[in-house]
Amino acid sequence: MSKKTTKRAVEVINTELVFPTHTNHYGTIFGGRVLELMDTTGALAAMRFANEEAVTASIEAIDFKKPIKVGDIIELKARVIFTANTSMVVKADVFRVNKFSSKEEFACSGYLVFVAVDSNGEPRVVPQLRCVTKEEKKYCKIGEGIKKRSQERRRREAEE
Ligand SMILES: CC(C)(COP(=O)(O)OP(=O)(O)OC[C@H]1O[C@@H](n2cnc3c(N)ncnc32)[C@H](O)[C@@H]1OP(=O)(O)O)[C@@H](O)C(=O)NCCC(=O)NCCS
Repeated sequence: MSKKTTKRAVEVINTELVFPTHTNHYGTIFGGRVLELMDTTGALAAMRFANEEAVTASIEAIDFKKPIKVGDIIELKARVIFTANTSMVVKADVFRVNKFSSKEEFACSGYLVFVAVDSNGEPRVVPQLRCVTKEEKKYCKIGEGIKKRSQERRRREAEE
């Protein structure tokens, strides 16, 4: 795919009911389960953007702000916010939704870096993200910062 191809990103939404198998003895969802859902929803956003398979390269620190309880609805919204050559930064937001009132409360948010790959696991060039709205441009800058930080981490690791 040509690097010059540009496109806008679509939001991927994933809605699930929280079952007891995914909660601790306090009846709140495991952080690891939330991460799994963020990863899956984020990967779908990346793959649909790139029209390629995509693997998770890194995940930024995530602060869990609100407990999500057994019987709640957990809703995830993910979107590509920045593209480099073969990598994409995806923002994944998590909400706790009351299944009777549909009231939505923000639970946490995270940034994940995905790399598009071919069937041999080799990185593939992705289309370039076209940011149009003020909000898209704002998150593009944030994504660029995340990309830079991950590059610095890799550089430091290579030196160690
Ligand atoms: C991600 C992966 C495909 C990168 O392969 P690689 O041979 O290191 O490729 P490169 O060094 O050419 O880097 C390719 C891109 O990945 C990015 N990248 C590589 N490692 C990264 C990391 N840890 N965090 C963020 N981006 C990373 C590079 O910055 C580069 O992006 P760019 O082309 O947009 O500039 C490879 O490391 C891999 O397969 N990792 C395992 C992925 C996986 O299995 N994830 C699931 C959980 S284990």
